[in-house]
Amino acid sequence: MQRAKPRSASHILNHVNLPANHPLLDGRTADSPLIRAYRGDRPEKTPVWFMRQAGRSLPEYRELRTGTAMLDACLDPALSSEITLQPVRRHHVDAGIFFSDIVVPIKLAGVDVSIVPGRGPVLGAPIRTEADVEALRPLDPDALAPIAEGVARTVDELGVTPLIGFAGAPFTLAAYLVEGGPSKDHLRARTLMHADPATWNALLGWAADVTGAFLRAQVLAGASAVQLFDSWVGSLSVADYEQHVAPFSARAISHVKDLDVPVVHFGVGTGELLPSMHAIGVDVMGVDDRIPLDEASRRLGAEVPLQGNINPALLAAPWSVLEAHVLDVIERGRAARSHVLNLGHGVPPETDPDVLTRIVELAHA
Ligand code: CP3
Repeated sequence: MQRAKPRSASHILNHVNLPANHPLLDGRTADSPLIRAYRGDRPEKTPVWFMRQAGRSLPEYRELRTGTAMLDACLDPALSSEITLQPVRRHHVDAGIFFSDIVVPIKLAGVDVSIVPGRGPVLGAPIRTEADVEALRPLDPDALAPIAEGVARTVDELGVTPLIGFAGAPFTLAAYLVEGGPSKDHLRARTLMHADPATWNALLGWAADVTGAFLRAQVLAGASAVQLFDSWVGSLSVADYEQHVAPFSARAISHVKDLDVPVVHFGVGTGELLPSMHAIGVDVMGVDDRIPLDEASRRLGAEVPLQGNINPALLAAPWSVLEAHVLDVIERGRAARSHVLNLGHGVPPETDPDVLTRIVELAHA
C-alpha cells in the first residue's frame, strides 16, 4: 500500500473530486497529526480521539439533548454541530467525529426507525422477506442536506482539527434491519444469508449504497477521514464474512474511493477477521481491546496503520492502573507503521469525562 506523501503534486491530483475549499486541500488538515498517522507517518505526538466521545459522558451533552429525540438531534445541523464540538473543546482530542448515528441514512431513505434510549435502534417492522427488501427505496441525495449542513458548520469551527465522518457497514445495519432491533447474536441475520442468499444480497446491496451516500455527503461537506463501523461483524466466521459481507463493505466504501480520504475500518471481536476486513481496501484498521496491538500488527503486517485499543472497562479503574494500561497500548502500537490512540469500543455513558482529558494529556506528553 504505497501512499503519496502529503502535499506532493500527485497526492493533490488524487483529490480532484474534492471541492477546492475542502480542509484536506486548503492547508487546514493535511498535515494534522491524525491525518499524517492515518497515512502511515509518525507525528511527534501520538494522536488520540475516542469512539463515542460525544454523548452521555458529557454533562453539557445531556443538557443540550434534554427534550430532543436522538434522531431529531442528528437532523438538526446546529445541534449536531455543537454536540460534535463539545468533546473537542473539552478534551483537546486530535479529531472530532460527526455526531450522528449509523441508522440516520436508513431513516432518510424512508425506513421507520427510531432510537430507544438505553436500547438502541428499533424498527417499526423488521425487513426479512424478499417483498420487504423490494419495498426499500433508494436514498434521495437531497435528503442528506441536514447532514451536509451539520458537517459544514462543524468544519468551519474546527479549523485545523480534522473531522471524521462515519457510517455503519452493511452487515451491522442488517443486524438491526433483519432483527428489527438490537440483538445479542444477530441470529436471524446470520440465518438469512444462508437461507435466502438472493434476498440477503439485495438487502446488503441496498444498505451499501445508502450508507455509502451518507459517507460521501460527509466527505464532500468537509470531513477529512471516514470510519466504517462494522460493530457486530465479530459474530461471523471468516468464510461467512468473505462470502456474504466483504463485497458489500467494499461497495459501501467505493462511494468515497475517488475522494482519496483515509478510510478506517472497525468492529468488535474481530481478531480472526482483521486481515479479511483490511482486504476490502481500507487504509487503517481499528482494533478492539480483545487483542493486543502488537499481535494485531503481526496478523495484518507491519505496514498497516492501527487505531485503538484502550480497554473501556479500565476507564473506571484507579488512575495508576489506567495509566499503566494506556502506556502499554502506546508501546504495543509501536509495532505498527503508525498508531492513533483510541478505545477498544465506545466511551461508556457513566465515564468520568476528566479521565478522558487526562488520557489525552498523557498521549500528548
Ligand atoms: O462521538 C461519536 O462517536 C459519534 C457519535 C455516534 C453515535 N452513534 C451517537 C449515538 C456514532 C459513531 C454512532 C455509531 C453507532 N450507532 C454504532 C457503531 C459504533 C459502535 O458503538 O459500535 C452503532 C452500533 C449504533 C447503534 C446505536 N445507536 C446504539 C447501540 C445506541 C445506544 C443506545 C443506548 O441508548 O444505549 C445508539 C444511540 C446513540 N448513538 C447514542 C449516541 C450518543 C445514545 C443516544 C442518547 O444519548 O440518548
